[in-house]
Amino acid sequence: MRLPFTALIGLLLLCSSALAGVETLYLKHCAACHHAERHGLSGPPLIPEYLGPKNETELASIIRNGLEATNMPAFKGVLSEKEVLDTVHFIKTPAKAPEWGFEEMLSTRVISSEGYGPGHGLEHGRENLFMVVEAGKGTVHFMDGERFEVMGSVKAGAVHGGPKFAPALEHAFISSRDGWVIKYDLLNLREAGRIRAGISARNLAISADGKKVAVASLLPAGLVVFDAATLLPLKSFRDSGAMSAVYSLREGRRFVAAARDRAGLVFIDDGTLDEKFMQTPMPVTDFFIEPGERYMAATSRGSGKLWIVDLKEERTVKELPLRSGMPHLAAASFWEADGAMFAAFPHIGEPVLSVLKLGDWELLAEIKVKGPGFFARTHESVPHVWVDTGTDTIQLIDKKTLAVAGEVVPEPGKKAMHIEFTGDGAFALVSVSEDDGRIEVYDTRTLEPVKGIPFKRPVGKYNASNRRF
Ligand code: HEC
Repeated sequence: MRLPFTALIGLLLLCSSALAGVETLYLKHCAACHHAERHGLSGPPLIPEYLGPKNETELASIIRNGLEATNMPAFKGVLSEKEVLDTVHFIKTPAKAPEWGFEEMLSTRVISSEGYGPGHGLEHGRENLFMVVEAGKGTVHFMDGERFEVMGSVKAGAVHGGPKFAPALEHAFISSRDGWVIKYDLLNLREAGRIRAGISARNLAISADGKKVAVASLLPAGLVVFDAATLLPLKSFRDSGAMSAVYSLREGRRFVAAARDRAGLVFIDDGTLDEKFMQTPMPVTDFFIEPGERYMAATSRGSGKLWIVDLKEERTVKELPLRSGMPHLAAASFWEADGAMFAAFPHIGEPVLSVLKLGDWELLAEIKVKGPGFFARTHESVPHVWVDTGTDTIQLIDKKTLAVAGEVVPEPGKKAMHIEFTGDGAFALVSVSEDDGRIEVYDTRTLEPVKGIPFKRPVGKYNASNRRF
């Protein structure tokens, strides 16, 4: 169809004036807290990379009603319904990538090291420490693994990827979704410093020697490596794409990262920081690395396939079809039985747990569970894989028979999610992820609850023995 030239101009003017209208609206009502370019100030960034899967209905409701017990005001009565919807549309459109070099990063860096020495905090018991992400308060807590008491806390905003314990267990590092890297001092139980690596980030990884921290940034896209001691940026890899995740490999002393807009993996030597690229069949949107760190299982959203990458030889060794969609590989759990290794992972939106035999890379089973969950976890001393189901029930899968062998229900009708074990596997911690929620601690032998610790929407929990770097 051809439009007369004047009609085209008219259309263009109409579009740009609508945009200009909503931009003015944004600058007037939102920019003071969310930044003129939507990069986030006291409020989070309002860009697609950050808002992620939140849909337009959810966003419109947040803008209309505000967020209770936060500084996010309600705009009902201030903005018309059409203005609310225009604003939603506006914050869902891509923002210009910000200028975010070392200078911008350094301007955000805060080091709070003065005035305290060792001996006030955790000299013992750090191997069994938990980090607890309390989503409802944007806080990460440090909780001991015997009495399950909170020892210290740090404000972190929204946290997506798992926080990590540094190898010597003297520090922990947290990456927030709005791009901050927060360093926490475990000996003194206080924040040691922070720096903003970008506007929006996925996760971080700590090198095996504890000296470097790599951050997977979404906006601007790329990886940034920091000195773990000083939080000074050492090198950024801005051409590597919008990162889905970064991990640290003890074997070969490298970081490995996947970009979701580029078909390949990036390897970075954690000593020299030299970069190497390996082609993959499709962009890797999700992956796991097996405990031996030799192989990666990777998938590309919508591909219906899983492929196995030999990380040592840097080549794809097998490709296999998946019967269920959207595997959540980052949530995979591993165990050994009869001399073989197995991995189990859930599927987002489907009530299925897939079980994969490592080595010959065969899909052994697709176990029907009560509902679509996010996480599967086990421990070498525990006979079951604990699986959340998006419901009030955590189901227990027998590692030998692969049958559903039991369940725990922390509170009927309230969503139970994410499981983590103590270092010895004697207890399992489950989140009741509600505003008046809690973490329920279970004895893994008797399956009896032994303690409940109240939190506002607790989500992830990470044990220092089970989750290092
Ligand atoms: C007085 C400061 C302030 C103003 C003004 C403000 N916000 Fe917010 N907004 C916040 C804070 C703080 C949060 C985070 C609340 C929390 O802790 O969850 C937030 C969160 C949000 C979220 C949820 C983001 C997420 O986590 O997914 C949206 C969407 C949002 N604001 C949109 C807007 C829009 C659109 C406007 C303007 C019409 C606006 N805000 C004005 C402070 C503000």
